[in-house]
Amino acid sequence: MPAIVVVGGQWGDEGKGRIVDHLAKQAQVVVRYSGGNNAGHTVINDGGTFDLHLVPAGIFYPSVRSVIGNGVVVDPESLLQEMQMLEDRGVSLEGLVISDRAHLVMPYHKTLDRLQEQSWGDWSIGSTMRGIGPAYTDKAARLGIRMAELLDEEAFRDRLAFVLAEKNRLLTQMYGEAPLDFEEVFSRYWSLGQRLARYIKPTERLVQEAAAAQRTIVLEGAQGTLLDPDYGTYPYVTSSHPTAGGAATGSGLAPTQIDRVMGVFKAYCTRVGDGPLPTELHNEIGERLRTLAHEYGVTTGRPRRCGWFDGVIGRYSVQINGMTAVALTRLDILDTFSEIGIGVAYELDGQRLDYPPSNVAEMERCRPIYETAPGWLTPITACRRFEDLPPAAQQYVTRLEQVLGCPVALISVGPQREEIIVRQAVL
Ligand code: IMP
Repeated sequence: MPAIVVVGGQWGDEGKGRIVDHLAKQAQVVVRYSGGNNAGHTVINDGGTFDLHLVPAGIFYPSVRSVIGNGVVVDPESLLQEMQMLEDRGVSLEGLVISDRAHLVMPYHKTLDRLQEQSWGDWSIGSTMRGIGPAYTDKAARLGIRMAELLDEEAFRDRLAFVLAEKNRLLTQMYGEAPLDFEEVFSRYWSLGQRLARYIKPTERLVQEAAAAQRTIVLEGAQGTLLDPDYGTYPYVTSSHPTAGGAATGSGLAPTQIDRVMGVFKAYCTRVGDGPLPTELHNEIGERLRTLAHEYGVTTGRPRRCGWFDGVIGRYSVQINGMTAVALTRLDILDTFSEIGIGVAYELDGQRLDYPPSNVAEMERCRPIYETAPGWLTPITACRRFEDLPPAAQQYVTRLEQVLGCPVALISVGPQREEIIVRQAVL
């Protein structure tokens, strides 16, 4: 029945949407398990380029059930906009299902995200301002509102009255903002809920039934391992678990039912938002990577910080997630570089480190120790087999496998669906 997690190995934006799209054609169920509409997954197919934020990348295959799992926080307005965009472009939403346990992103979450970022000054984290942190805060604080309540008028009214009174105290007394009007929030969200009602279901049951029937299940991660609140560069992280552990709690599948973990890594490194990025290149090479790869956030349009592949966090990611295979994306972006750096260790205050320190102040002081690999200076987008790649590109991939301690099964060599090298069957 294979169940496979697709997890970001770096700081997000590794190209997970594209890899999920590749695997979904062999799957019956795709479950998004964490994050919210802070994520941006780009899928390019016959219908053009699609930027997804909440809808799983399985949606393009009509026979796939595309599940927004309980680990996701859902901004219903943003989800409906995305659904409308898909329908307008001829994509059927028949396969879409939303967990009734998923938490809602409410208007005060977005307001609080902005107010917090403004008041935190030097400690602001560069949030996408989609209200994701405050929504997960409320989930953990037992102050959240879930999809299930959105379907029950009385329960929703009662719950919102209690929660909004708390939030209005925070908004007015701590931040000096105007309070939100109960009737306005209630009627807006109730009508959004009515439009979503037919998609809202107990999805853990659907997922368990699929597992019992030996179906192939793809668990779609959002963000990346280094944005995980436990294993990432805390506090410069997101608020749910992008790591493979989060795939079980966020989807309804048990850890023992997951048998494969595919880590997705870009052939170089990027990060959007604040926090350490040891291999960041503040020079013409970083600029060139950004321009060649158009490294701007799908969700916010912010320029991404760019640098060489970081093998230290890569190896750590492989271990933390128990990766069984790696998908290496955007290898073609390196086509025109005569020399390519690979970060193989860090130097921290004169000591060599093989793992990322947990203290963020130390992580900020880490300097990468590089190996230099020769470039291939040839376009590789037409290659479909590993043996078709120029020798220097093959050597680069083989060296990354050694550094990561995990086989590279898929290599993307261009943005189109078919521009991928399958070295090893994944499903
Ligand atoms: P938040 O989760 O929107 O509050 O953002 C927290 C941090 O995670 C910020 O640095 C964001 O830029 C980053 N982040 C959140 N979602 C993504 C993503 O999908 N890709 C890359 N970075 C992300």
